[in-house]
Amino acid sequence: MKIGFIGLGQMGAGMAANLLKAGHEVAVYNRTASKAEALVRLGAQAAHSVEAVCAAEAVITMLADDAALEDIVFGKGGVLASLKKGTAHISSSTISVALSKRLAAAHAAAGQHYLAAPVFGRPDAAASGKLVVVIGGPAERVDTYMPLLKDLGQKTFVMSSKPEDANLVKLSGNFLIAAVIESLGEALALIGKGGLDQQQYLELLTSTLFDAPVYKIYGRLIAEQRFEPAGFAAPLGQKDIRLTLAAAETLNVPLPLASLLRDRFLTLLAHGGERLDWSAIGQLAAQDSGLEKARAH
Ligand SMILES: NC(=O)c1ccc[n+]([C@@H]2O[C@H](COP(=O)([O-])OP(=O)(O)OC[C@H]3O[C@@H](n4cnc5c(N)ncnc54)[C@H](OP(=O)(O)O)[C@@H]3O)[C@@H](O)[C@H]2O)c1
Repeated sequence: MKIGFIGLGQMGAGMAANLLKAGHEVAVYNRTASKAEALVRLGAQAAHSVEAVCAAEAVITMLADDAALEDIVFGKGGVLASLKKGTAHISSSTISVALSKRLAAAHAAAGQHYLAAPVFGRPDAAASGKLVVVIGGPAERVDTYMPLLKDLGQKTFVMSSKPEDANLVKLSGNFLIAAVIESLGEALALIGKGGLDQQQYLELLTSTLFDAPVYKIYGRLIAEQRFEPAGFAAPLGQKDIRLTLAAAETLNVPLPLASLLRDRFLTLLAHGGERLDWSAIGQLAAQDSGLEKARAH
């Protein structure tokens, strides 16, 4: 297919590279143009405007947050004004349920199609084609674009005919991952302060009851205190908890754990954690317990 790809950050760069490998004709656009260079070497065409990248059968967006996507879609010469009737915007960013709903209505009014396809998996999974793609949109459109959606990752799950439902699923999943990070951080602080070997403890957990990627990936990052370079930056993690709480408020669902996570992210950011991986909230329990200070001496 002839694809336009907007947003070549940590995730978008790998996703666009996989679309090229799968044989699609891909034009790429990024606010910071230099990030397109590596993809051009792989065969992508560099587009110099949003309008130019929209001359395609489908445009995929992978941008930081609601504000970035709103600029790119609703701004002058944006996706809404540039996509031809009958072509699609596939939104993979982790955005609010409310914005996804608004995008569905705006594209429908313009005679364009809109699908939500947020993803699970970190940048290494994006680069190696191992993302999990969560899809929301009318069945007929999902069928049309399924070959392309399959090329974005290794597994696709169609959740609902309403695009915004896929965004709710994605946000709830990130809430769960953040809750795992927080609880792992607390358990590892306890084990460390008790003078036990955290690596051995993780080996016990992840080879038995907690044999799951989130425990393996985040357990290692927290035990090794490896929060830089960030694979998923803390401000983006904070954004996801904020959006989860917003969706929960709309549905009148109290999420006490999400409220706690919100404060954990604010603590991290208040102490200069902007450049750290979001898993650095898993270090706060070690700080609270004095373990971090004890390690430094
Ligand atoms: N990293 C992960 O592990 C992960 C996993 C799943 C989902 N996600 C989600 O995927 C999305 C992208 O994440 P990422 O890690 O790839 O982030 P990233 O590396 O920070 O990339 C963000 C992208 O958004 C662009 N952008 C930001 N503000 C913009 C604006 N106002 N106008 C135009 N472009 C703008 C950036 O352009 P510049 O290059 O010019 O800054 C860049 O292309 C986010 O919604 C995130 O929550 C991330």
